[in-house]
Amino acid sequence: MSTDSFEASKKRSDEIRADLSVHPENYTMLTGDRPTGRLHLGHYFGTIRERVALQDAGVASRIIIADYQVITDRDTTEHIQDNVYNMVVDYLACGIDPERTVIFTHSAVPALNQLMLPFLSLVTESELLRNPTVKSEMDASGHALTGLLLTYPVHQACDILFCKGNIVPVGKDQLPHIEQTRNIARRFNERYGRVFPEPEGLLNDAVEIPGLDGRKMSKSYGNAISLSLTEAETAKLIKKSKTDSERLITFDKENRPGVSALLTTAALCTGRAEADIAAEIGDAGAGALKKHVTESVNGFLAPIRERRERLAQDRDYIWDVLHEGNRRANEMAEATLGEVREAMRMVY
Ligand code: TRP
Repeated sequence: MSTDSFEASKKRSDEIRADLSVHPENYTMLTGDRPTGRLHLGHYFGTIRERVALQDAGVASRIIIADYQVITDRDTTEHIQDNVYNMVVDYLACGIDPERTVIFTHSAVPALNQLMLPFLSLVTESELLRNPTVKSEMDASGHALTGLLLTYPVHQACDILFCKGNIVPVGKDQLPHIEQTRNIARRFNERYGRVFPEPEGLLNDAVEIPGLDGRKMSKSYGNAISLSLTEAETAKLIKKSKTDSERLITFDKENRPGVSALLTTAALCTGRAEADIAAEIGDAGAGALKKHVTESVNGFLAPIRERRERLAQDRDYIWDVLHEGNRRANEMAEATLGEVREAMRMVY
């Protein structure tokens, strides 16, 4: 994405942020995750925390568990049911309230998926092929480009537009998809009459959340601290992380990625600055740093884990939450598809 359009997106995002607390009723938030594993601290500080804040501010909130997106670049759905179940548990443990936020899955909402056909007619092959996120996901997967991976930004437009979402909290890497969604909405409205809003990405200012090795936190890098780990598992993971032999602890991302990632992790969990934590530890070395980080992470996650534990025991309740979310999502999707049929004069 060009610097110009990033700047434009960032500016619109900042304007919306300012308006949100004044007019929460004007906004519908839609965002989601692929159910490929457990949520971790990167998800929490990157987006979950923000979703809870928007929900609590009174913004209509919808969260999609993007199960069809799992097979864009994988050839198995082996753990999908367990991953979906645990994703609902993680959301609720973090403060997502199913009374106020609709939680649902792709595969349970046929009318959402049906939007794919008219939407595909509104994009060109070259637009799809030049989407940078599609390209990098294809490279990372080591698979051939599947038709679903190539067209998944259009599917994501269906996710956002079926409920007329107009704000989408996302990381920078998802901005090309928001741009594509805006194009689809605008082209549909021009061709058939206005049905859809042109959604905006809501960018957050948070630093990229580093994993334990200093790279972006990601399950596939094996550097993530999952919310669902026990305290002992967390301690073990932090203990194993790679630091260096310099005893004086300093925050220096470039030259000391391991030490700095640990400092950022503790900073996020305690709301303090990295440099202050480093100064406090001084020349006590990596062992003392790791002890401090373990305590900060476990302390921060304790209430989330406690709720998680309680929720995970009530399987019926968790499935009820998802079934009710799916029911509400189907209502919205059918209403929107009805408008689409009418706009396209396909009413028989
Ligand atoms: N593609 C997103 C990801 O990989 C997940 C997602 C699916 C999503 N549908 C969405 C995000 C709609 C925002 C809006 O993280």
